[in-house]
Amino acid sequence: MKHPILALLLLVTTWTFAQSPRREWQLTHNWKFTKGDPADAASLTFNDGSWQTVSIPHDWAIFGPFDENHDLQVVAVTQNNEKVATRKTGRTGGLPYMGTGWYRTRFNVDGFEAAGQRVNLIFDGAMSEARVYVNGREVGFWPCGYNSFFFDVTDFLHPDGQNNLLAVRLENREQSSRWYPGAGLYRNVHVRVTDRVHVPVWGTYITTPHVSAEYAAVKLQLSLENIKTGSEVIVQTDIFDPHGKVVASRQTIQKKFQALPHEQNITVNAPMLWSPETPHLYRAISKVMVGDRLHDQVETRFGIRSIEVIADKGFFLNGQRRKFQGVCNHHDLGPLGAAINKAALRRQLTLLKEMGCDAIRTAHNMPAPELVQLCDEMGFMMMLEPFDEWDRAKCKNGYHRFFSEWAEKDMVNMIRHYRNHPSVVMWSIGNEVPTQCSSDGYKVAKFLQDICHREDPTRPVTCGMDQVTCVLNNGFAALIDVPGLNYRAHRYHEAYDKLPQALVLGSETASTVSSRGVYKFPVVKKADAKHPDNQSSSYDMEYCSWANLPDDDFVLADDHDWTMGQFVWTGFDYLGEPSPYDTDAWPSHSSLFGIIDLASLPKDRYYLYRSVWNKQSPTLHVLPHWTHPGREGEVTPVFVYTSYPEAELFVNGKSYGRQTKSKASPQHRYRLMWMDVVYQPGEVKVVAYDAAGRVADEKVVRTAGKPHHIELVPDRSVLAADGNDLAYVTVRVVDKEGNLCPNDQRMVKFQARGAGRYQAAANGDATSLDLFHLPQMPLFNGQLTAIVRAADKGGELVFEASAPGLPKARLVIAVK
Ligand code: GAL
Repeated sequence: MKHPILALLLLVTTWTFAQSPRREWQLTHNWKFTKGDPADAASLTFNDGSWQTVSIPHDWAIFGPFDENHDLQVVAVTQNNEKVATRKTGRTGGLPYMGTGWYRTRFNVDGFEAAGQRVNLIFDGAMSEARVYVNGREVGFWPCGYNSFFFDVTDFLHPDGQNNLLAVRLENREQSSRWYPGAGLYRNVHVRVTDRVHVPVWGTYITTPHVSAEYAAVKLQLSLENIKTGSEVIVQTDIFDPHGKVVASRQTIQKKFQALPHEQNITVNAPMLWSPETPHLYRAISKVMVGDRLHDQVETRFGIRSIEVIADKGFFLNGQRRKFQGVCNHHDLGPLGAAINKAALRRQLTLLKEMGCDAIRTAHNMPAPELVQLCDEMGFMMMLEPFDEWDRAKCKNGYHRFFSEWAEKDMVNMIRHYRNHPSVVMWSIGNEVPTQCSSDGYKVAKFLQDICHREDPTRPVTCGMDQVTCVLNNGFAALIDVPGLNYRAHRYHEAYDKLPQALVLGSETASTVSSRGVYKFPVVKKADAKHPDNQSSSYDMEYCSWANLPDDDFVLADDHDWTMGQFVWTGFDYLGEPSPYDTDAWPSHSSLFGIIDLASLPKDRYYLYRSVWNKQSPTLHVLPHWTHPGREGEVTPVFVYTSYPEAELFVNGKSYGRQTKSKASPQHRYRLMWMDVVYQPGEVKVVAYDAAGRVADEKVVRTAGKPHHIELVPDRSVLAADGNDLAYVTVRVVDKEGNLCPNDQRMVKFQARGAGRYQAAANGDATSLDLFHLPQMPLFNGQLTAIVRAADKGGELVFEASAPGLPKARLVIAVK
């Protein structure tokens, strides 16, 4: 080819039409699984015929049974100021996650040898201490159960690529966790085949060094593997805007390749900025060429946005100050256990979004990739957190056993995996680590923070600190980019005064406890309140001794520029940690902290947060329910959570007067409370007034009559025929008029047929030992949630619920 321009043109056309030389798929079905540790389970000749056939993601422990002796921990929880060891029943959920388990499957990689390709296995997470074997030989080990990791297994495969045996041994020690960790291959496993010359796993890094309304500078760094030093490398990148249109392109030629990331700087004009309200996503598709051959093509999704943390002023996204309206969440999905499911995550985020939540802290571990992808798409800022302990133990068999050898590797994997995601705005290096009080704890903090700065200089680093006296005095808090306080709202001012950063983030807040639909009398604000039924009151006045009520956190966020907002403990209830019923309090085995319960039904508190956080649509919520047989004539306070400043309350037509929000106390500032209402069956009516004093809205709650029928309310009426999609069906018992019967606890049985199946149910009762996967569940205060799963073929999914004394209810969901 004599003419260079013509040659280049031809090249570009060839690339455009050439197939990407990489392929990737997931190993989902036809796994064999056993609990236990049979000898030779990794070997090619081992017969796994008697093992269970499973699909992954799979959580071996979620099928129960619940038992208080499962991982019974006799410990003093020093973080909670305990001095004496006691029996912590239900601490990890009372489920059998402990022990060893094995998974085996076979897979083919056609033609990899002839093509000289490389094959990687990528694990999104495996719980835990994973030992991976291919064709009988050990490929590698990864101890942290939450992190993603990968191995190049090319040299372990059969040369013809056929029938390769993948075996994974997992081991969970007792006393290795403070919550339910799940067990097994609970996240996805991918096979990735690339050319020998390729961009390695997590080998792209996109940042946006300049962001303005006019233009954004996009910097792309591509790592390249197996290229001979001195070769000519050409990289062609096209940037696609959120509508799929190419808006910028760049071709760069490296005449003499050196083993450094290949860098491209690309301008995007008039960028559509990413934010929680406008989650615009761009894609960069990069083609890698050496000589005249296309070797790799990678797609990197990213967002254009700027983040800044400014002393005294707080956190800025795209130049605008905002306070985090965030929640902390553990990784389990309630009745689905730890087994990851994208539809379940989407459901969680949908509810949180509607509440006005804009941020998620992945407490206290690396998330599933699906969660980060959804946060990019749906608009949530994220704080990703790797550790609950460093070198000093919280749990006898916790991560401290691995910290010195693995901490850096775990940090690197987390950061490289997620650094292209616009949702991720901050790294955390740990949660309430006991190391924070040791004299050289700051050195460990610096070691971890330096890894973040090295791997990703664009994001600030925080740490959830609870030992405020220690960290303010020993230099620990002063060196973290963003000092995060867990609770201790009364010490924010002191921290602000003493710390050079002149900022405080509520890295963990509230730990208010409540049980959906449970109301305790008299209504009093109380730390560590306990009741004989192991439930906490839904008047939202009960909290743990180290914690506080939501109103205190609102005050701090609303009154000071130097506070950065908060991450509430927790968005959703989770398995394990049933505080304040954690000591000899079986059958309590799941949390009461959630704003939303384990059945993914909002508690009253949901509306308290919504009333402050959701600026798009007004909130008017009344509690308690008004069906209290036996309370006639007794004082039964009424609370209203509303975005309106004022309201009037009527009970059976009689006015209890108008209430206006005031600064008399944090509670009076964010709630309207009528403390002296006397219960009589009938109706409670609230009329809300806007700031101009005009009637804006009203709400009525009525005493329920006799249970009359079952109501089925699905969150979605059409599911995707992908074998994974889920519908959450709220099952409620109501009276003739449709009022919820809030004291009904009867057993409901389910049946699903047609284009899908029954998956699980939960009722949100932290003391219920009913197994989630069995097709029956008692109501908890009139409600529960049943989850059905779409088939991989279209059709009608028919769901039925029956309960003694009531007609059967039926629902049809389309699967397409
Ligand atoms: C915090 C801790 C959380 C959870 C919470 C309960 O101290 O970081 O993991 O235990 O308390 O209130």
